[in-house]
Amino acid sequence: MHALVTGGAGFIGSNIVKHLLAEGHRVTVLDNLLSGYRQNLDPFPQVEFLEGDVRDAVIVERAMQGVEVVFHLAASVGNKRSIEHPLEDSEINVLGTLRVLEAARRNGVRKVVFSSSAGIFGELKTIPIREDHPVEPDSPYGASKLGAEKLCLAYAKLYPLECVCLRYFNVYGENQRYDAYGNVIPIFAHKILQGEPITIFGDGEQTRDFVNVRDVVQANYKAAMARGVSGAFNIASGTRITINRLAEWMCEASHGLVPIQHGSPRPGDVRHSLADISAASLAFGFAPTVDLREGLADYMTWAKGALV
Ligand SMILES: NC(=O)c1ccc[n+]([C@@H]2O[C@H](COP(=O)([O-])OP(=O)(O)OC[C@H]3O[C@@H](n4cnc5c(N)ncnc54)[C@H](O)[C@@H]3O)[C@@H](O)[C@H]2O)c1
Repeated sequence: MHALVTGGAGFIGSNIVKHLLAEGHRVTVLDNLLSGYRQNLDPFPQVEFLEGDVRDAVIVERAMQGVEVVFHLAASVGNKRSIEHPLEDSEINVLGTLRVLEAARRNGVRKVVFSSSAGIFGELKTIPIREDHPVEPDSPYGASKLGAEKLCLAYAKLYPLECVCLRYFNVYGENQRYDAYGNVIPIFAHKILQGEPITIFGDGEQTRDFVNVRDVVQANYKAAMARGVSGAFNIASGTRITINRLAEWMCEASHGLVPIQHGSPRPGDVRHSLADISAASLAFGFAPTVDLREGLADYMTWAKGALV
């Protein structure tokens, strides 16, 4: 098939590109390099790379030619960025998604697989979190991802276009770089490799559901290949770990021993997070395969070459 990956120069997108090529598919990437890296695609010269913005109707139309499946990952990513740049967040995440959906339906695309986020849930009331948990986002990012999901699902009702929204929990893995908006795993990796102390907010007994990017790639691919499936699904490991244990395993994996400090808890941080992933398993056979301890060891090996 011919696939379009928006945001394909980013962390998760570049891993999807790698898998699609390995499966023998043709791949076009549309990315404006807002937070992605052109070098993530250097190993794949066969990819057609279009540097451009999902808000630009002309380039989106061009990128869509002959495409069967769109993996739509291009986004302004994260709560922090969205609080700093709320207009840009919704322009990219809501209007950019609408541009992609419009071009997809006009060009006879079979399926759009949209990268959503557990951020749509806001404050977590019960765990494990099922898809029907209340959605009360507490950031512009959560709200824009929810808006984009609703547009995808409306298009799936209105047109012969299948849309699957994948609500990722905490994704980690190869090509995840440390930056100002970084997640906890790249931040800890960076500190450990620099030999600097790690700071854990609060007592560290809060838990999170971390899913390896290889399993997120699997979810995208299986969702794309499943015929007649539309809807919104949690994508996570279905297991949880404390932040204290995470820090311990990451130090072990790199044979690095750095001091662990505890700071005050961050306002608004949820205490526990854990996804129910049975809906994705039933709908398209999603089954995470990467053990967290092994995934962290692989990540630390990659980070040694990339983060320092
Ligand atoms: N990493 C996570 O834990 C996580 C969790 C939940 C959801 N997600 C979602 O997964 C997707 C991929 O996230 P990621 O972690 O790989 O982040 P990323 O920042 O590495 O990837 C986003 C990509 O989109 C590109 N992009 C941004 N704005 C664009 C625009 N206007 N036009 C074209 N390209 C644009 C960026 O340059 C980048 O390559 C995003 O939609 C994100 O919201 C990620």
